Amino acid sequence: MSEQFLFPPDFLWGAATAAYQIEGSPLADGAGPSIWHRFSHTPGNTTNGDTGDVACDHYYRYASDIALMRELGLKGYRLSISWSRIFPEGKGRINQAGLDFYSRLIDTLLESEIMPNVTLYHWDLPAALDDLGGWLNRDIASWFGDYASTMFDALGDRVSMWATLNEPFVVMDGGYMHGNLAPGHRNMYEAPIVTHNLLRAHGIGVQAFRARNAANSRIGLVVNLEPRYDASDSTEDKAAAVRMDAYSNRHYLDPALLGEYPGELKEIFGEAWINPSDEDMQLIRQPLDFIGVNYYSRSVIRYDETRPPFYASPVAQIGNPHTEMGWEVYPPGLTRILTRIKARYGDIPLYITENGSAFADPPAATDGRIEDPLRVDYLRAHLRAIHAAMEQGVNLRGYFAWSLLDNYEWSHGYSKRFGIVHVDYETQARTIKDTGKFYTRVIESNGAALG
Ligand code: FCB
Repeated sequence: MSEQFLFPPDFLWGAATAAYQIEGSPLADGAGPSIWHRFSHTPGNTTNGDTGDVACDHYYRYASDIALMRELGLKGYRLSISWSRIFPEGKGRINQAGLDFYSRLIDTLLESEIMPNVTLYHWDLPAALDDLGGWLNRDIASWFGDYASTMFDALGDRVSMWATLNEPFVVMDGGYMHGNLAPGHRNMYEAPIVTHNLLRAHGIGVQAFRARNAANSRIGLVVNLEPRYDASDSTEDKAAAVRMDAYSNRHYLDPALLGEYPGELKEIFGEAWINPSDEDMQLIRQPLDFIGVNYYSRSVIRYDETRPPFYASPVAQIGNPHTEMGWEVYPPGLTRILTRIKARYGDIPLYITENGSAFADPPAATDGRIEDPLRVDYLRAHLRAIHAAMEQGVNLRGYFAWSLLDNYEWSHGYSKRFGIVHVDYETQARTIKDTGKFYTRVIESNGAALG
C-alpha cells in the first residue's frame, strides 16, 4: 500500500440506492402508486416485464441491510424517499406509516454511525400527481414544496444532508423527451416545461429548507454529468459537442447556480423553448451547500445533419472497455468534469453521489465468493480519477458508490447488476462482491489501498 492516494480524514465514503429500485412493496401500509409502479406494470415498458414489486425487499430488510453497510465500513448512505408513501394522493393527506418507515430507517442508520444523505425525488412521482399533469403542471413546484417541508419537519432533526432532485436531466430526457422512462412521453414540446418546473420545485424546496434555519444542515442538487468530447477539430464537430454539453451538463447547473439557461437550449428546442420570467429565474437560483455529481461515462460527439434537434451523434469508441449498459469506461472523463465544474461555477463543495458499473457477475464460487474483477477495476480507476481532481484543487468532500445492492435498473429491470453487494433475487441472499471487499479496504486505509 502506498500513501500516494490518501484522502482527507473527513472524506465521506458511502454507497447509494433509490427507493423504487430497492424497497419493494410499493403499496404497503397505505402508500399510493407512483408513476414507476404504473409504468413497470404496463406491458412492453421494461425488460422481461420486470417491476419493483419485490426488488431487494429492503422495505422489510432495511435493518439487516444497514448491518451490511456497517460490515462494509460505510460512513455515509445515500437513499431516496418515496413521495407516494408519504402522500398517497401526492398532496393533502399524510400517511403516517410512510413517515414512520423512513424515521425507523434513519434511526437505525444513526445507531450504526452511518450518515444519511437523503434525496427527496428520485423519479417516483405519485401517480395521482401525474394524473394532474405531473411535471407539466406549474403547481407541482408547490406540491413538491409541501412534500419537502413535511420531510424536513419529520426528519430534519436527524438528517443533515439533503438533495432536492436526482438527475433532473434524466427526468426530462428519459421521461418526457425519449419516453424510455416513466411517464414515457415522447414530446419535445413538453421537455422545456418539465425542466422549468423541476427547477422551480428545486428552488421552492431549498427555500423551505432555509426557512427552517437548520444549523449544520446542508442541501444540494444532484445532477448527472457526461463530458462531451469533440470527435475532431472541425468547427461542426466542436459546435455539436458544445451543444450536447449545454443540453446534458449545463442545462440544470447554469440556471441553479448562475440564474440563466444556456443559450444553446433555445437553438436546440426552437419554437418549443420557453420564455422564463425573471421572477422564476430568481426562484431557481438559490444558494446551495453542495452539488452532487453522478458520473458513469463520457461521449465523443460528431456533427450529424440527419439528427434534429441536436444535429449530433455519439461516435462509438471501439476498442475501449464498455460496461453491460454499453457505456464506455473512461475514468479521465470524471477528472475532467470535476475540474470543469470548478472552472465554471467556482469552489462549491462537491460530492460524487453516484458512480459505478454494471457487469454480469459470474456465479458464486464454491466458497461463496463473487469475483467481479471488472467492477473492481472500474472502482479503483474512478477513485484514482477523483483523487487526481482533488490534487488539481477540486473541493470534493465524498464519494457514494452506485450501488450498495444489485437492484431494479429501471426499464432494464433486473438484467443489469450495479451492486457492490450481490443480491440473489430468488432467496434475497446478499453476498459482498470482491468490489465491496476492495471498497472496505479503501475506506479503512482512507485511499491508500488504491496504490
Ligand atoms: C442513474 C440513476 C440511478 C441508476 C444509475 C445506473 O442515472 O440515478 O438510479 O439507475 O443511473
